Parts: sequence; C-alpha cells; structure tokens
Amino acid sequence: MKIFLDTAELDEIRQAARWGVLDGVTTNPSLYAKVGGSYDEILAEVCKITSGPVSAEVIADDVEGMLTEGRHFAKIAPNIVVKVAMSENGLEAISRFADEGIKTNCTLIFSANQGLLAAKAGASLLSPFVGRLDDINEDGMTCVRELVEIVAIHELDAEVLAASIRHPLHVTQAALAGAQVATLPFKILQMMIHHPLTDSGIVRFKEDWAKARAGTAAKS
Ligand code: G3P
Repeated sequence: MKIFLDTAELDEIRQAARWGVLDGVTTNPSLYAKVGGSYDEILAEVCKITSGPVSAEVIADDVEGMLTEGRHFAKIAPNIVVKVAMSENGLEAISRFADEGIKTNCTLIFSANQGLLAAKAGASLLSPFVGRLDDINEDGMTCVRELVEIVAIHELDAEVLAASIRHPLHVTQAALAGAQVATLPFKILQMMIHHPLTDSGIVRFKEDWAKARAGTAAKS
C-alpha cells in the first residue's frame, strides 16, 4: 500500500521522504490554512520533494471555475493531481479533466456509490473519508472495503485512497482492506514507527552494551 502524507507542512514531507516511506502527498484547504503563504509555491516545493502524486484541491463549485483552477494547478508540475469534491459539478469537472489528460482525486467520498461514480467519470484516486464516517457512528472502513471490491470486480481504472485517517489501526485496516493508498497526518506516521517495546528495547540494548564495555575495560 502506498503511503501519502496528508499535510502542507514542508518539513514533515521532507522528513517522511528521508525515511524512505513517502509515495505522495495530499493537501486540502484546511491543511493549507494551517501553514498559509502561497498555495502555488507550497505545491511547487512539495513536487520537488516527491515525484509521487501531489493533490491540489480546487475551491470553485462551478464546473468552469474548477476547470480553471485545476488547469492552473496542473501546470505547476507533472505530478500534480487535481482534487475535486464529490458533487454533480465535481463529476462533470472530473470527466472534463480526464478528457484533457489531467489526473484527479475525488475527495469527500462517504459511500461506495459515490466512489463508483467518481471512477466512472475518470478520477484516478477515490478518497473515502474513514474518520469522518466513524465520527457519525458509521464504519468508515466498510466504505473503503466496498470500494476496493467494486474497483476490483469491475476492473475500474482507479485507486482507493483511504483518507481522514485518525489512528494507526486505521492504516492497518486500510492495508488489509486492499486500499491502494492511505494518506496520513505526519503524527500518525510517527505513531506507526514507535512501539513501547521497541523504544524500551533500544534503551536496554544500549545499557547492556555499556555494561559489557565497562566490564571489558575493567578486565584489561
Ligand atoms: O485527506 C482528508 C483529511 O485531511 C480529512 O481528515 O481528520 O479532517 O477528517 P480529517
């Protein structure tokens, strides 16, 4: 499963790239609002850090507006993927982008049917929001599982990107469900690295090593 970082923080993206686990990046207006500055410049910088897909979200809710914004983003770098929210206009824009050879990520997907339609319209990434479904007492992972199955059964040319990931267990579940991608906040990626037994084990190895060295030094 590919791992994308769900952030607009360049330092986080650089760190994940150094760890060798970064396959792409997703941004959205809320994540961008946390860092501010020029969205275009941030996107250009992110595209230098990773050659994987970098999602840039359109704000317009009319088709022509979405197309204008998306075409602009697509010129920033070849790995830009235009993120479009699921809606009637969103589907039309996705379909037009597909005709123009511009890749899209359909976001704010909360049902398998929405994902099916986005794939049919030509989106290359389908983003079900797991955490936000869990928030309303629905099982977000069911949506991921159903969508993965639908894409496979009907050989749709799209990948399921598990989004709105809130904890490491979501990542494991998305991987087991067959999601091709999960996009994670940096904090979740860090949580995946650490385990209390790993951390205490490293401390114990160091202590034992130091004791052994001290013993060797005392004997010589
Ligand atoms: O990728 C979508 C994600 O940013 C939404 O996450 O935690 O705001 O539901 P959240």
